[in-house]
Amino acid sequence: MTDKTSNQMWGGRFAAGPDAIMEAINASISFDKRMAAQDIAGSRAHAAMLAATGIVSDSDAAAMREGLLTVLSEIEAGEFQFSTALEDIHMNVEARLKDLIGAPAGRLHTGRSRNDQVATDFRLWVRDQLDAVDQALQALMRALLAQAEAGADWVMPGFTHLQTAQPVTWGHHMMAYVEMFGRDLSRVRDARARMNECPLGAAALAGTSFPIDRDMTAEALGFDRPCANSLDAVSDRDFALEFLGAASICAMHLSRFAEELVIWSSAQFRFVALSDRFSTGSSIMPQKKNPDAAELIRAKVGRIFGANVALMMVMKGLPLAYSKDMQEDKEQVFDAADNLMLALAAMEGMVRDMAARRENLEAAAGSGFSTATDLADWLVRVLDMPFREAHHVTGALVAKAEAKGCDLPDLSLSEMQEVHGEITAAVYDVLGVHNSVASRVSYGGTAPAQVRAQVARWKERLG
Ligand code: ARG
Repeated sequence: MTDKTSNQMWGGRFAAGPDAIMEAINASISFDKRMAAQDIAGSRAHAAMLAATGIVSDSDAAAMREGLLTVLSEIEAGEFQFSTALEDIHMNVEARLKDLIGAPAGRLHTGRSRNDQVATDFRLWVRDQLDAVDQALQALMRALLAQAEAGADWVMPGFTHLQTAQPVTWGHHMMAYVEMFGRDLSRVRDARARMNECPLGAAALAGTSFPIDRDMTAEALGFDRPCANSLDAVSDRDFALEFLGAASICAMHLSRFAEELVIWSSAQFRFVALSDRFSTGSSIMPQKKNPDAAELIRAKVGRIFGANVALMMVMKGLPLAYSKDMQEDKEQVFDAADNLMLALAAMEGMVRDMAARRENLEAAAGSGFSTATDLADWLVRVLDMPFREAHHVTGALVAKAEAKGCDLPDLSLSEMQEVHGEITAAVYDVLGVHNSVASRVSYGGTAPAQVRAQVARWKERLG
């Protein structure tokens, strides 16, 4: 005898309904309702295939497909009553379909299982996110390209160890991030190409004895092909891990850039002015303009990489095929996706609005003996000095300037000649920051001509 409180989908062998705690730990509807559109798309494709293969009648399939559209519109309109007792989105949708169309709804699950159903829904959801991240990355890269183009020849200090190293151009610094986000873009595209196989029809784990057409459902859902192994199809979550991996690296890039914006916008640096639109004030200190958006972007990598680690730990050691552990995949991915999209959009907005303080950048570019390497190179080139000796002579000149409290170009020729008698006035040409950056014409170097070439290359690639 079946208790009427037992589950209507699988209550046949159950005498009683679940304990309240069981329901609470088991149900996923509170979060997997986000996959409603994907679930319904998958079911509609499955219904069409069941009719095309003669497994169900055309009229039953038509009723299912029509009814599923009604369910979707109810969900989109916010009118749908989600039920925790029905566990997840799959059973919620199917139960409502039964209310709407009656008996034919019971045929929808022929030749499939929730295991291949959830794997399909989640792939479709992750694929949509990969596409959204793709767009958001391109938008951010375009904002960076605009900055790089405007400031291809603006000079600023380049740092190593956050100590002034050599002058670079603003455009070159912006283009470094274009390269980084460009790699993120290629990771997203690689992941998409690899994950675009359809699990539907793998059924519970072993495939099905019904004469289903997996190519048909795969094609209807925009997949390149069906997954080739039914066990793998239902137990694979690599696509989610690759998404989280790519998202983690992208969030790490965003975090590094955000940190630079925090430093650059500080009163000590004053390299950039961030717009009011992406800053906040202080409730107590009237003078403050805080780079909160940048700080939050800097932090997002924590939860995104956390999600990556969490899902990795969920999947580790799971035997084939499906285990309920895998239901823990979604919240991590949803949270990471939401926060990555938010961080990308906020960064794009900040970059678009950001104003480089050109004079401050240029003044800082010349301080800290930033052209010392140019001086050493000049000694090598003009006086034919071995580089090691040139390094030593330059070091002595830096010490002299430091003792005098001035920069290298402020030393007089006679002061320079006290260190090395063959130095001529021509040396001053290489001590200016503009000459310094203009001279770095090696491929990928900071010279404005190189920066402009890279801007043009990326513009063409992004189309
Ligand atoms: N809500 C489940 C999940 O997200 C759906 C699959 C359930 N499959 C099962 N055999 N209980 O993983």
